[in-house]
Amino acid sequence: MEEEVVRYGSREFVLTLAREDFSSVYPRMMRYTLSVREGDTVHAVFRTNTFEYSPMVPLAAESAARDKKTAWVRGFASDPEAIFSAYPPDPPDKGGTPANGVVIIQGSPRPDGNCSILAGWAADAVREAGRTVQIMYPHDLDIHCCIGCYQCYNTGTCVFDDDMKGIIDAVRGARLLIICSPVYTNTVPAGLKLVIDRMQAYHAEKTLYGDLGGKKGILFSVAGRKGEPNFSCITKVILPFFRNLGIEPAGQVLIDSTDAVRDIRILPGRNDAVKQLVTKGLLS
Ligand SMILES: Cc1cc2nc3c(=O)[nH]c(=O)nc-3n(C[C@H](O)[C@H](O)[C@H](O)COP(=O)(O)O)c2cc1C
Repeated sequence: MEEEVVRYGSREFVLTLAREDFSSVYPRMMRYTLSVREGDTVHAVFRTNTFEYSPMVPLAAESAARDKKTAWVRGFASDPEAIFSAYPPDPPDKGGTPANGVVIIQGSPRPDGNCSILAGWAADAVREAGRTVQIMYPHDLDIHCCIGCYQCYNTGTCVFDDDMKGIIDAVRGARLLIICSPVYTNTVPAGLKLVIDRMQAYHAEKTLYGDLGGKKGILFSVAGRKGEPNFSCITKVILPFFRNLGIEPAGQVLIDSTDAVRDIRILPGRNDAVKQLVTKGLLS
């Protein structure tokens, strides 16, 4: 969009304001990047995007970026290093190694319920295939809810530094992601929903930096009530969640009537169905 040369003593800096069109990600989303260069060295970067500004905020991304530029030009007169340390340029290193792990997210708050049994069967299948598996329990973790700030589309990283970082690291390194979820009030339990919403940061990371693809996702679910329609809410949440992250759905096992059954281990064939699906997912 524009460039401006600013001098500080004998040093010469170039401030650049650029606009990127992200409308393929979200309708009319634009990202503005203000950067400071000295020769080939980038000293500072500030990014902002149009989705950061909610309807009642009297600010817009472009004017915020221009205001920042004005402030930086003024700041250069006294202390450029203060700007450099406040706006470091390096994007986070997301690593480029091929994803080969297996991650199970056990979404029930009950550590010894039917979803834990499903997670255990799935983990056994992974280990029997000679692979390692990581089981994560959102309800035991410190995960803030997504606040819809959209700042992850500036940096590829969430503004909250909590246990979600470990989940995103695990999913980034996974080739197979397995979700175990009970039906809670016609959706997933709150802890799992926190994870799903906070995965927006991983979607942003993939959008900004790309990924190697090839991930598969399997769903295991239990519902207290009788009948397949009780799972329509779960599949409506989990399958788009997989697809949004470029994870190809690779099957599901849904077990209803758990309020009557109580313990799914008494049901014939369920352990085998889970293990077969996981084994197939590992091979594909
Ligand atoms: C808060 C809460 C909400 C629930 N909502 C539903 C529901 O909407 N539909 C349903 O079929 N079962 C519902 N259930 C029953 C659970 O899906 C069922 O007990 C399940 O087996 C629990 O999974 P877990 O054993 O892995 O904890 C609910 C249970 C709880 C505690």
